[in-house]
Amino acid sequence: MTEEILITQQQLQDKVKELGAQITKDYEGQELLLVGILKGSVPFMADLMRAIDLELEIDFMQVSSYGSGKKTSGVVKIMKDLDADITGKNILIVEDIIDSGYTLNYLKQYLSNRGCKSLKICTILDKPSRRQVDLTPDYRGFEVDDLFIVGYGLDLDQKLRNLPYISWIKE
Ligand code: IMP
Ligand code: MG
Repeated sequence: MTEEILITQQQLQDKVKELGAQITKDYEGQELLLVGILKGSVPFMADLMRAIDLELEIDFMQVSSYGSGKKTSGVVKIMKDLDADITGKNILIVEDIIDSGYTLNYLKQYLSNRGCKSLKICTILDKPSRRQVDLTPDYRGFEVDDLFIVGYGLDLDQKLRNLPYISWIKE
């Protein structure tokens, strides 16, 4: 197994700055709640929140999709829910990668039933070629091919999340 760098630390930094500036502009004068999806969003969330120049709040959710290894099944279970009521809030979900889209499709429905004012999605990576449901992120860092990606939050069997760059695994 070898890994090859796909997106460098510098490229990530530049992209996060760009996304932060866009989000700052789009939500100007409004309240914003960033909802990070554990555990993969942690590095991106930490960088993105500091690139947004607004009075925002953060919260986290943890979900697990049933299925084995690298495949998701479409069945999603909430392991940790939000701490506070989201009625009337602008929610921006922060995710590491959208693959089949099952996870976020489920979360979008789950959260939109709770009376928030708006609900958008920001992902650092997107694999549109793998999509099983109709879902397009509102903010996206990079589009990637159908490769197995690690680093900057993304794991292989819970490891490699701490790589400061993004690699893909050649088997
Ligand atoms: P989805 O429900 O298929 O969109 O899956 C999204 C989740 O699957 C992500 O939040 C990741 O945790 C995981 N995932 C999808 N593709 C990859 C990958 O290439 N590397 C690591 N994790 C991945
Ligand atoms: Mg994830």
